[in-house]
Amino acid sequence: MEIIAHRGYSGRYPELTRVAFEKALELPVHGIECDVRLTRDGKLVVVHDAEIGRVSDGRGKVAQLTLAQLREFNFGTESSPQSVLTLDELLELFADHPEHHLYIETKHPVPHGRIVEEQVLMRLRYAGLYDDPRIHVISFSQPAIVRLRALAPHLDRIRLRRRVERRLNPVDLHLGRPTGLGLSLERARANPGLIGRHGLPTYLWTVNEPEDLRWARDHGVDLVATDEPGTALEVLGR
Ligand code: G3P
Ligand code: CA
Repeated sequence: MEIIAHRGYSGRYPELTRVAFEKALELPVHGIECDVRLTRDGKLVVVHDAEIGRVSDGRGKVAQLTLAQLREFNFGTESSPQSVLTLDELLELFADHPEHHLYIETKHPVPHGRIVEEQVLMRLRYAGLYDDPRIHVISFSQPAIVRLRALAPHLDRIRLRRRVERRLNPVDLHLGRPTGLGLSLERARANPGLIGRHGLPTYLWTVNEPEDLRWARDHGVDLVATDEPGTALEVLGR
């Protein structure tokens, strides 16, 4: 089972910041995970929520702020300030770590819609990573997976099941022929039969406790996203 640092080393450092990714990439884990959104001026930034209030000293929506405006806020701590990270900056950092994989999650619904996937692919091209098998794109959005298949069929595309699908998608249907399927720990615990369903690799999030990490490994999970990659390495080994 492969270990992925969820939002960087987010259990110890401010999530999705440069320091969180630098610290994660120092570890012998399989990869790192990030969320991306478009700013008002069309720049991809590595931010999870639509609003920046939870993770910065600023207020407002990513989609309504320019990159220059986002740069004014601190996404780190008082003692260790961090600027908002762009996907370009993360790709540059990632390029120095040829042993690691990168899982890029496109967030939806957003005002920019399909432009998010188009821009991710463009930034990958600029970074020389478009054909790199270490790149994986993941999303809760079925249309996003369909788009990825149409635009870049060679890329690994992992569809994350939404919580509501327990009721709304009981047949576990997935559009765009995903190459992997994601599952929350909560849902996997309730229905372990979903692990390995459709003959596809299973990506499990967010698994921080040693007991859950061992459970995931023993139930055939392929990829585990964790805020505590250091703990995961201690529990599972390399
Ligand atoms: O890695 C998948 C997981 O990150 C999905 O949930 O809300 O943490 O983006 P969320
Ligand atoms: Ca995510």
